[in-house]
Amino acid sequence: MPVEDVLARGSQGGLVRRLTGVDLIGFGIGIIIGTGIFTLTGIEAKEHAGPAVVLSFVVGGIVAALAALCYAELASAVPTAGSAYTYAYATLGELFAWIIGWDLLLEFALGASVVSRSWSGYIANLLGLPSQWFGEDASVNLGAIAIIAVLTVIAVIGIRESSWVTNALVVVKVAVCVLVVVAGLFFVRSANLVPFIPPAQPPAAGGSALEQPLVQAALGMGQSVYGIGGMLTAAAVVFFSYTGFEALANLGEETRRPKRDLPVGLLGSLAVCTVLYVAVAFVLSAMVDYRKIDEGAPLAAAFQSVGQPWVAALIALGAVAGLTSVMMVELVTIGRIGFAMSRDGLLPAKLSQVHPKWGTPHRMTLGGAVLIMVLAGFVPISELADMVSIGALSGFLIVALAVPVLRRRRPDMPRPFRVPLSPWLPIVTAVACLYLMANLSVITWVRFGVWLVVGLVIYFGYGRRHAKLGAPAARG
Ligand code: ALA
Repeated sequence: MPVEDVLARGSQGGLVRRLTGVDLIGFGIGIIIGTGIFTLTGIEAKEHAGPAVVLSFVVGGIVAALAALCYAELASAVPTAGSAYTYAYATLGELFAWIIGWDLLLEFALGASVVSRSWSGYIANLLGLPSQWFGEDASVNLGAIAIIAVLTVIAVIGIRESSWVTNALVVVKVAVCVLVVVAGLFFVRSANLVPFIPPAQPPAAGGSALEQPLVQAALGMGQSVYGIGGMLTAAAVVFFSYTGFEALANLGEETRRPKRDLPVGLLGSLAVCTVLYVAVAFVLSAMVDYRKIDEGAPLAAAFQSVGQPWVAALIALGAVAGLTSVMMVELVTIGRIGFAMSRDGLLPAKLSQVHPKWGTPHRMTLGGAVLIMVLAGFVPISELADMVSIGALSGFLIVALAVPVLRRRRPDMPRPFRVPLSPWLPIVTAVACLYLMANLSVITWVRFGVWLVVGLVIYFGYGRRHAKLGAPAARG
């Protein structure tokens, strides 16, 4: 589909241009901060990286910033709702658009499962609920299932948080991170930071070949955790913590000066989050021996372990509130992506049909919610997060490649924000995404492969024949 058509279609929506760059930074922080920092930090320090999880966050932040630069160029040139999915349609063709849309559904559905489990861990910590039903040791995580059920009803009825609640929750989440850093500094024990990169060793439980990072398996190396390899695996998993910034690109049509404000919003929110994440990861690693970190509610448990139950309770309360809004955004976004894909004929229109009374794509939201609940009930956070990371990274890889492709095809197009050093920087971004993906486990690749195959079967069995935009240009 020609870029001009995308822009024309976008301007028919009639959305009001009212957001500024600062609004976008706030909005971005609100979407980005969540389970990644509240829970995955602890899991990855314990299972893969030790204190070097701090470096994992630095690596993840750099790759996310590179991807954000590529997003910024496309978002400022093609400021429309639909983000990566629409850019791919305009530049690389329908098949890539489908893959990105399918990846985005994976990212948001599994992302919501991850966040609901993290929510369950923190509410259990706050209220002393039984570990049999809440947190990472639960046999069936009823807490996670229950919160998704409640939020789905709210999403279907179409009740949104008012903007002051959203803004307040951004402040709460930032405040939790700042509290951890400031209060935690009083309980730092430098002995916990040594060795900063624990030496590589075989996994405690013996491990299985399927859990080995792909890159290690491909090079015929023995399976190990910790060391530089473990730090990189953790970087790939905690990449999850940075995902969500791409939702800003959806706001192109509602931004006053999208060409300037979108790059400011994307890079600004990522910069703030990277600083907070690195600081929180450092303080957590310095407070608790990484082998003893609690996997359900690591930040709150760290303060309980140093005799500060009130700080722990404040953190748990903030996490519970903040995570609730992350799940809400994710549930609503699943409906929106499904809506965009079926508007273009790639998914059956029935799926995205809007409810006559509530005005929401209820079928898509309910279908997504069932998948989210099944996964949240039974699959550990780390395995779900791996899938979100691989889905997000593969999407960013395509976005990075779209930048030089669009420059070659449409050199004349105005690009208010230009990625420096193109095509090299986009190529470096694509390679970095691929390298992080290669540090995820073999089983994650297998599951991702299955997801893609299912997606391609749906595309070739349905989407390709029903696509409304399937003009030759759209097929790339
Ligand atoms: N980045 C979001 C989180 O960490 C998805 O929860």
